[in-house]
Amino acid sequence: LDDLVAESGVVDWIEVITEHFLGRPAEMDRILRLAAGRPVVPHGIEMSIGTFGNDAEWHEYIEQLAVLADRLDPPWFSDHLCFTRSESTELAALAPLPRTKEVVEHVVRRARRAQSEVGRPFLLENIAYHFAWGDDFGEAEFLKRVVESADCYILMDLTNLAQNAENHAFSVDEYFAGLPVDRIVQVHLAGGVEGGGVWYDTHSERVPAPVWELFDWLVSTIDLPAAMLERDMNLHRTAEVRDDLLRIRTMMDAVRS
Ligand SMILES: [Fe+2]
Repeated sequence: LDDLVAESGVVDWIEVITEHFLGRPAEMDRILRLAAGRPVVPHGIEMSIGTFGNDAEWHEYIEQLAVLADRLDPPWFSDHLCFTRSESTELAALAPLPRTKEVVEHVVRRARRAQSEVGRPFLLENIAYHFAWGDDFGEAEFLKRVVESADCYILMDLTNLAQNAENHAFSVDEYFAGLPVDRIVQVHLAGGVEGGGVWYDTHSERVPAPVWELFDWLVSTIDLPAAMLERDMNLHRTAEVRDDLLRIRTMMDAVRS
């Protein structure tokens, strides 16, 4: 992707997986060189904000994250509203949290602490999920309670949202109506694959039409600061990646002008 990143007018900023850089100053320097002055935003997959009973280990993670943020100096940092481990077991996956009052309180405490220790706005992302549990709140209400009580922000993954709406048969309009959309600081767009009637968030394909429609609606509804194309596989198909990036730019420019 070096050529694409070096090309002017295509990539404005870079998102990196936080855990690839924690405690690795040489890697931090390398990504800053590649970014050549563009913002580099750490996006975590292992904060596991919803895990109970691992406070000491969790605080160590936040301390390391604060060191990374000091080096990269990003405008914000992000992770997912999920858990990736129990007290004793690594799940190696982003798992949905039970939507209960107890979990909201726990996540709010941790989100506040992460945001204040790292000293930058903290964004929580909606994950794609294949089961839901805990019935105090619906998905939008759960996210709203967390971000409003913690005074943090939303990374809205539009592909995850479209897939969840399809897989769990809910209305995207109602979802957005229940959400403080002014707290959305960034979106993710990605393309996945379908198998056995279920959509999987593989980040391997072009962004599909329903996701572009959601993006079109969102950029014309709120003043969206940033959008990120998530593409982790089939990167050799550079023309596709470039086209999707330029389409994001065109749509954002259209509402800004
Ligand atoms: Fe995402």
